[in-house]
Formats: sequence, structure tokens, C-alpha cells
Amino acid sequence: MKIAVGSDHAGLSLKKVIISHLEQKGLEFKDFGTYTEDSCDYPDYAEKVAVNVRDKNFDFGILVCGTGIGISIAANKVEGIRAAVCADTFSAHASREHNDANILALGERVVGPGLAIDIVDIFLSSKFEGGRHQKRVDKITAIEKIRNDFGGKNE
Ligand code: RB5
Repeated sequence: MKIAVGSDHAGLSLKKVIISHLEQKGLEFKDFGTYTEDSCDYPDYAEKVAVNVRDKNFDFGILVCGTGIGISIAANKVEGIRAAVCADTFSAHASREHNDANILALGERVVGPGLAIDIVDIFLSSKFEGGRHQKRVDKITAIEKIRNDFGGKNE
């Protein structure tokens, strides 16, 4: 399993904890930055990780910012990405089982390191259930194809 990891400055400390955990587990990963505490913009790191997950260079992505919200919103703009912000373990497995989430987003200012590690482990070990959930995920994918230009019909 290959994992793409990224954060902004507000998620850097938690990302380091997660990276140590991935190393301990012997999981293959790449850190797409940020690498310093200098203030930066979370969409830049969301894009790097999301594009690499979309292109199947990595199986999953893990993104961290202050809340997990901004970085997940940005990642979800990339076609094929289903980024889920999780602050509890139920959401971590449900996001995989029901939504086939391919990026986990975490908020360093929201979850502590112990809970974050549990969320990461549960997210990475849970499997998409398919079945009725596949149809719904397909509908999410279909939304990506909707024409938004003038004359497009979105309802
Ligand atoms: C940075 O201050 C903060 O806004 C960012 O990390 C994130 O929480 C945005 O959603």
C-alpha cells in the first residue's frame, strides 16, 4: 500500500506523528510537504496529494491542516477524489465502507495524536463494501461530469 501525505503549516506536527506511525508500520509513503512551520496555503498541498491519488501513483492520501476542512475541500475539487474529514473512528471506517473515500483529512487543532493514529489505522484497513454504495459513489462521479457552462442543465 502506497500513501501520499501532505499538510499545511497548521497540520505539520500531526503529519510528523502520522509519518512516524507509517514508518513503524513499514508502510510506503511520500511526504509532499509542507516541510517547515512557515505559513503556507493548504490548497497547494491538497492538489499535490490529490493529483497523485487520482493518477493512481498512490492508493490513498492523508492530508492534515488546522481543521481538515480547507484541505479536504481543495482535494475534492480534483476529479476522482473523495476526501473525507474524520474526527472519530466511526467516520473513519464508514468513509471507506460506504463512500470509498480515497483521501483521509485530519485537523490538528481538532483531534489529538492518539485519536488521529486510530483514525488512520481504521481508515487504511477498512474496505469499500460496494453493492448499494457503488451506485451512490457512481452518482458522485456523475456529478463531476455535469456541464456548468451557460445552457448546462444541472437539475
Ligand atoms: C490555517 O491557519 C488554517 O486556516 C488551515 O490550516 C485550515 O484549518 C483551513 O481549513
